Amino acid sequence: MTTTASDWTKYARGLADLMQERGDIVSPAWHAAVAGVPRHTFVQRAYEQDNTGQWMNWETSEHWDRVYATRTLVTALDSRRGYPEPSSSSTNPELMVRMLEMLDIHDGYRVLEIGTGTGYNAALLSHRLGDARVFSVDIDPELVTLAGQRLSSAGFRPTLAAVDGQAGLPEHAPYDRIISTCSVPAVPASWAGQLASGGAVLVDLKLAISAGNLVHLHRQDDGALEGRFATRWASFMAMRHENDESVSVPRVEETDGGRSYTTAAPVPPWNSPVVWFLAQLGGLPREVEFGVLLDPETRQPYAASLAAPDGSWTRVNLADQTVTEAGSTSLWEPVEWANRLWTEASQPGWERLGLTVDTHGENTVWLDEPDGEHRWTIAGS
Ligand SMILES: C[S@@+](CC[C@H](N)C(=O)[O-])C[C@H]1O[C@@H](n2cnc3c(N)ncnc32)[C@H](O)[C@@H]1O
Repeated sequence: MTTTASDWTKYARGLADLMQERGDIVSPAWHAAVAGVPRHTFVQRAYEQDNTGQWMNWETSEHWDRVYATRTLVTALDSRRGYPEPSSSSTNPELMVRMLEMLDIHDGYRVLEIGTGTGYNAALLSHRLGDARVFSVDIDPELVTLAGQRLSSAGFRPTLAAVDGQAGLPEHAPYDRIISTCSVPAVPASWAGQLASGGAVLVDLKLAISAGNLVHLHRQDDGALEGRFATRWASFMAMRHENDESVSVPRVEETDGGRSYTTAAPVPPWNSPVVWFLAQLGGLPREVEFGVLLDPETRQPYAASLAAPDGSWTRVNLADQTVTEAGSTSLWEPVEWANRLWTEASQPGWERLGLTVDTHGENTVWLDEPDGEHRWTIAGS
């Protein structure tokens, strides 16, 4: 497709109209922001896997129909674990505007974003609030430099910083809103401390891969945060830190294992997001890896598998729900427990789950009410 320099406005407006029609954009100010920010300036090259799993990249200036679309664009790969995996992306605009709408941002608000990435979302915020009220941090200094250049070429100058967002950005606090575009295993106490009275946080609380969802927290009078999980599930890449160590998880054996029984829990459990989240609260190791095992002849999946760093593993046959386990940790027991609890509680959706973050940073997940019968403290918070 051939495009001219001014074509993008037509595509950007088209994207804003589409998201308004679908109900993701409600306020005219966010429609104007999406229509007025050139996403292709922030994402100049995008990476995509072909059907063999190989990463390919494409120039966005050649495909504005794919840039001004409701899709996440991977913008950086990291091969430190021996294979390329996404380390930054431009989040799907549909999810971005849903989050911005959920945050109920008004004129004059000061907003801190954790996870600058391309700078596109910082540009939407700057369009809405003005540069002086937008602050955005990313742990990757190169991304921050590039985002700064692209923001300024599009006419925006929010405050950017290359720091670990776990600590927020205390020098410019207080903020009316904090939005995180990377997931956290627990909401840091520092964020609560940097919110103005009446402030709110929106973040993906993710205890392990796929085990969590967006949670919308409001600052309480005593400085604690409290709120509920979003009805619709969403997922962001995990927050990382400078000294993160990668954990290796042994492969699941194809042997008979030691213990065997039949389960009534959903298989695979990660397709039932609330059960999978509860299983984490019930003691599944954070580093648990999951997958499916393929029949060597037919290449069709025949079992779901879980594996832990201590070598324990679980394999659950998809056809008859037979669980086979080996190693010192039962990885299926937390799933069984989570499924029992979920069934007895009439199969709650995300909206019945909430989170309290006290002033010391202790994160407590609860079902139905903060002081109700079911509460779980997130280990290490
Ligand atoms: C999904 S991307 C952000 C997308 C971005 N908001 C945009 O509009 O393009 C997630 C970002 O979080 C950043 N990140 C990861 N760990 C972080 C940390 N500890 N502090 C701040 N940013 C972090 C990553 O470098 C990555 O750029």
